[in-house]
Amino acid sequence: NRRVTVRDLAAAKQRGEKWSMLTAYDALTGGVFDEAGIPVLLVGDSAGNCHLGYETTVPVTMDQMVMLSAAVVRGTKRAMVVADMPFGSYQESPAQAMHNAARLMKEAGVGAVKLEGGERSARSIELLVEAGIPVMAHIGLTPQSVHAFGGYPVQGRGDEAAHQLLRDAKAVQQAGAFSVVLEAVPAELAKQVTEELAIATVGIGAGVDTDAQVLVWTDMAGMTAGRVPKFVKQYANLRAVLGDAAREFAAEVSAGSFPAPEHTFK
Ligand code: KIV
Ligand code: NA
Repeated sequence: NRRVTVRDLAAAKQRGEKWSMLTAYDALTGGVFDEAGIPVLLVGDSAGNCHLGYETTVPVTMDQMVMLSAAVVRGTKRAMVVADMPFGSYQESPAQAMHNAARLMKEAGVGAVKLEGGERSARSIELLVEAGIPVMAHIGLTPQSVHAFGGYPVQGRGDEAAHQLLRDAKAVQQAGAFSVVLEAVPAELAKQVTEELAIATVGIGAGVDTDAQVLVWTDMAGMTAGRVPKFVKQYANLRAVLGDAAREFAAEVSAGSFPAPEHTFK
């Protein structure tokens, strides 16, 4: 009853088997996805906007990531749990990245960490990998740079941007990353990157040809309020289901029909 490892994911790429990743921010939902057989769970810093009520991922702290990641580890048995390194926790230096990645491994018990950036993060990735920490990279649209991007535009469009994305992908592979997220890039480019890399590509808004796919759980389950990005498919309508349950509970309390005799101690 061991957890999924980087070796299992390397073997999957060898066999041409696609795998899936979902975000999770707590023990409850992590346990649901683990039971459903999702092999890799990402404690994304999307917790900032999807779980903690911030506008972006930028305010998320190391202490928050440790707490959320530890909960997901406790709630799961089989999945590899990957923790995002939040904004400001690794950009300063490889030493800072090492210090904070070690916190996620030791205090939360995750099996891997993820950080944003290609060439710009390669030195830090190298140090973590040398220290025995599996690293998932994240290139293309890197949401921690939302203020520099001026929003969440598709990346890798045009020859120069496409070449930079390829250089970033090769840099993180060279640095020892076991996998790389490609976010919001044209499908053709994601396909090319996937073919040129030996490590697994994990797409989000990157077409169907990546080795794996990731979605934010609140988006894929229909929990998110309002619009979701074009690349999201909603596999359920949980927001409506939960809202209906809450309204029915409140209505029965008002009517005096809950609790009924069967919910009552005599
Ligand atoms: O934080 C997150 O949820 C992510 C995924 C979208 C890859 O980084
Ligand atoms: Na993230």
